[in-house]
Amino acid sequence: MQSSIKSVGTYVPDGVLTNFDLEKMVETSDTWIRERTGIKERRIAAPTQTTTDLAVAAAQSALGAAGLRPEDTDLIVLGTSTPDSFFPSGASLVQQQLGAHGPAFDVQAACTGFLYAISIADRFVSSGQARQALVIGAETLTKIINFKDRGTCVVFGDGAGAVVLGPAVNGGGIKSCVLHSDGSGGDLIYVAPGEPGPEGRGHAEIRMDGRKVFRFATQILAEVTLEALAKAGVPLESVRLIVPHQANARIIEAAAKKLGVAPGVMANNIAWYGNTSSASIPLALKDAVVDNRLQPGDHLVLVGFGSGLTWGACVIEWEGAPAGGA
Ligand code: UT7
Repeated sequence: MQSSIKSVGTYVPDGVLTNFDLEKMVETSDTWIRERTGIKERRIAAPTQTTTDLAVAAAQSALGAAGLRPEDTDLIVLGTSTPDSFFPSGASLVQQQLGAHGPAFDVQAACTGFLYAISIADRFVSSGQARQALVIGAETLTKIINFKDRGTCVVFGDGAGAVVLGPAVNGGGIKSCVLHSDGSGGDLIYVAPGEPGPEGRGHAEIRMDGRKVFRFATQILAEVTLEALAKAGVPLESVRLIVPHQANARIIEAAAKKLGVAPGVMANNIAWYGNTSSASIPLALKDAVVDNRLQPGDHLVLVGFGSGLTWGACVIEWEGAPAGGA
């Protein structure tokens, strides 16, 4: 049995932080940010809004789109690097708020979190151990940003995305997943203690060697896409859509070039959300579905990388799935 995406849902906070807002906070410019990253604005959670709040809202929109009730699911896997607390897990909190049942746990693989989560849930569903799984990527990264560090504060944003995973019906669904990790790159992006900032933000902060991560990312996105396609036995030419982690528009363009695919094959909505870590792939997938970029029978690749270093990709034969949410 193969597992398949039954619906996609998203939630982003109402608060918008534009490049012009950042110009007032740190020495940067709208032009620099747009040209170097492709980002125009990002969402920012309210001080009282938690990662769990975002995850619950995204899960509800995925369930609503599929016409399912929380009790119709029996597994929750949440990819996040910004859980509300060390424990209980964010997934347990989501389960309680939804009124769902079954095992629930978090996966911490930074920006590759959604790929790790969907890959694990795929094993549960395809082995029959779960009937229908909620797979969520949710982050409130702006709570761990130093808004004086222009190397990171212009890049990251908050958001959440979710899919319901269930048994494939037409022989489609997830064809392969590959996951990797190399801890020797752990010092390239990490969280360190930070100065307390306004509204409690900044107790811990992301530190990043942007240039080194950039070089790694442009190489690895193409490499792992080809690895996952080879494992699935799907030729690159038959891929309709590649949904990469939204870290930087230039990384996405470079990956398209390396693969030799038209830029239009790559999903790219980074202008509106920035880098939302484990939420970025489901957020971009949702926009692609809403824009009618996928038809049943199409092949797509979800591909990402992040702190760890971690990276991975999944090849999917799209069976058709509704999308919902903000
Ligand atoms: O999802 C987690 C994975 N993370 C990533 O994928 C991040 C990958 N890296 C990147 O996206 C880019 O490296 C950044 C967007 C973080 C930085 O862009 P860059 O083109 O690599 O800039 P850079 O660090 O090479 O800096 C170029 C110049 C420097 O000035 P000088 O030394 O040439 O005078 C920086 O000081 O740009 C300066 N700079 C800025 N200027 C205005 C760096 N950040 C900014 C800024 N505004 N925000």
